[in-house]
Amino acid sequence: MHERLPEERAGVADVDLSDRTVFVTGSTSGIGRETALALGRLGATVLVHGRDREKGRATVDALSETGATASFYAADFADLDAVRELAARVRAAHSVDVLVNNAGGYFPRSGTVGGLDYTFVVNHFAPFALTLGLLDDLGGASRRHGTPGRVVTVSSEAHRGGRIDLNRLRAGDSFGGWSGYSASKLANVLFAFELARRVDDTTSNCLHPGVVPGSGFFRAVPFPLEAASGLFGLVPGVDTVREAAATSVYLAAAPEVADTTGAYFDDCAERRAARTASDRGLARRLFEFSAEVTGVPGDRVPTLPTD
Ligand SMILES: NC(=O)c1ccc[n+]([C@@H]2O[C@H](COP(=O)([O-])OP(=O)(O)OC[C@H]3O[C@@H](n4cnc5c(N)ncnc54)[C@H](OP(=O)(O)O)[C@@H]3O)[C@@H](O)[C@H]2O)c1
Repeated sequence: MHERLPEERAGVADVDLSDRTVFVTGSTSGIGRETALALGRLGATVLVHGRDREKGRATVDALSETGATASFYAADFADLDAVRELAARVRAAHSVDVLVNNAGGYFPRSGTVGGLDYTFVVNHFAPFALTLGLLDDLGGASRRHGTPGRVVTVSSEAHRGGRIDLNRLRAGDSFGGWSGYSASKLANVLFAFELARRVDDTTSNCLHPGVVPGSGFFRAVPFPLEAASGLFGLVPGVDTVREAAATSVYLAAAPEVADTTGAYFDDCAERRAARTASDRGLARRLFEFSAEVTGVPGDRVPTLPTD
């Protein structure tokens, strides 16, 4: 049977992105690669990112074969200096209209990097720093195209089990494993919602892509898929890597969500996120702590309207 392409599943196969530049982090493999290929087929200029230069080149080649313009940017998200440099390199060469914060993973024994939990650095602090580094560009999308820029952050249903203790994070405790992963995915949702409250020229939404045993993610999970599905709170069921790109593609391209912001999506539909994700005090403290540890200059940190 023909497996539907992500843009078909998302109902955006007719959308023309030929005047847009999209940046998909973690697009050398897995869900991010399928997201990048789909957005390229819709005509976008695609910025591919990851650590693996060979896989990056292969993704750029695959995009070029579809007629898309693409370039590869290497940066390790465990290195926040490299993330800041990445934002500067991208700003110097492009005006990004859509940022898909997809890079991330499950790291069983992650330890710390620069005195911070590794999983939290890769899955939350790095996309935080990159997004704030590109906010001016994203905000310019309204001027360029008449519709706001978009930030799309790939979280997970695992966020529902997440607990964030800022004191432990600040103390440099390492979480690792499932508790570290679910905390980082809760941070993704809190960040997406808080950013939506702080900016009005760019939308910010987040999503669960599906349960995807075929991507690199599950190669690192040391327990059976059924157990993982239970942890996700889902009836066991799986998506292909291609199917799992649909919601990211939907939020990056669908005209009907051009003004939607501060929402959580699953299977191209808005869903209620965990109650903790609506904790505005926690979201604000996490945002301020993230700005501090990532060294984002004060004038680049968007404020709340009431500030
Ligand atoms: N698979 C699932 O069932 C599932 C479920 C819910 C949510 N998610 C989320 O979906 C997103 C994509 O996951 P996936 O399943 O597609 O995983 P994947 O196949 O392992 O792909 C991960 C991507 O992220 C990049 N990446 C990983 N660590 C990085 C680092 N330190 N620095 C820079 N790039 C890094 C990888 O690039 P390089 O290898 O080139 O560095 C790769 O392109 C993740 O945010 C994950 O949490 C996945």
